[in-house]
Amino acid sequence: MKNFIKGLPKVELHLHIEGTLEPELMFELAKRNKISIPFSSPQAVREAYQFHNLQSFLDIYYQGANVLITEQDFFDLTWAYLLRCKQDNVVHTEIFFDPQTHTDRGIAFKTVIDGITRALRQAKEQLDISSQLIMCFLRHLDEEAAFATLQQALPYKDQIIAVGLDSSEQGHPPEKFARVFEAARNAGFLTVAHAGEEGPAQNILDAIYLLGVSRIDHGVRCVESTELVQQLAESRMPLTVCPLSNIKLKVFEDMAQHNIVDLLETGLCVTINSDDPAYFGGYMTDNFVAVADAHPLTRQQLAQFSLNAIEASFIEHPQKATLS
Ligand code: HPA
Ligand code: ZN
Repeated sequence: MKNFIKGLPKVELHLHIEGTLEPELMFELAKRNKISIPFSSPQAVREAYQFHNLQSFLDIYYQGANVLITEQDFFDLTWAYLLRCKQDNVVHTEIFFDPQTHTDRGIAFKTVIDGITRALRQAKEQLDISSQLIMCFLRHLDEEAAFATLQQALPYKDQIIAVGLDSSEQGHPPEKFARVFEAARNAGFLTVAHAGEEGPAQNILDAIYLLGVSRIDHGVRCVESTELVQQLAESRMPLTVCPLSNIKLKVFEDMAQHNIVDLLETGLCVTINSDDPAYFGGYMTDNFVAVADAHPLTRQQLAQFSLNAIEASFIEHPQKATLS
């Protein structure tokens, strides 16, 4: 089964580029940029990755991003991830980036996006991997900061397919960003949002109705409402599920308890994704294998995850034509 999974063409729809920063590259960039980090070795960094919830992860994750300074750093980060995509037969990837994590440290928006998009263009030419870019607002920051970030993104509209919403879900519901998402949609961006990861099923409904999303990121807490599950199945609203992330952040006790296979069997458009692979112990193939090890799955079902991801992707979306 492992070989079948490895060879299966995959599409990744939920991947934070800052979450692909492997400890070795973190050390290399810290040295290059003369930044001190509170760890003695890459191994010590890995040992510190013991999380008990989303917030305990986010605290370490934002700290890790401090080593990213130059356009070349963002290129190197993205290129390393794309090489991993090649190994895992990921043929298309839609990547989140968090500009506020960087602009709040004085790094220019242009530095971030130029480095990332240079790697994406090179991947298209040299690795035959296609991609889209999704700009996320940090939901623990205020609406005004999100509006300022949207403003900064406008000159790069042709390089960003959608806006998203990430960071701490609890205490920061979708309604906080209803107006900025409306402005983003009016500017021609598609929208997605993290919802129903740690937050309640209501956040999924609010993401759909208040933010106009085309996909829900995570969404696993939909099962708390049978009506919502039925609605998601009927509408084929995609859920970008991240199995290893959910275990690391204690959304489920273990992979056998994970509901992704139940959701697949109920007819939802569920997909498998790696979220922050450098922090959660695995890229795309690892996530597929972890699910298949804990649940009896046929090849047809494994392939269905990829078919769902193609259906859910923004590949050649007609909306793209309006993004210039
Ligand atoms: N949830 C919320 N915010 C995030 C995540 C996540 O899984 N990964 C990176 N930022
Ligand atoms: Zn995420």
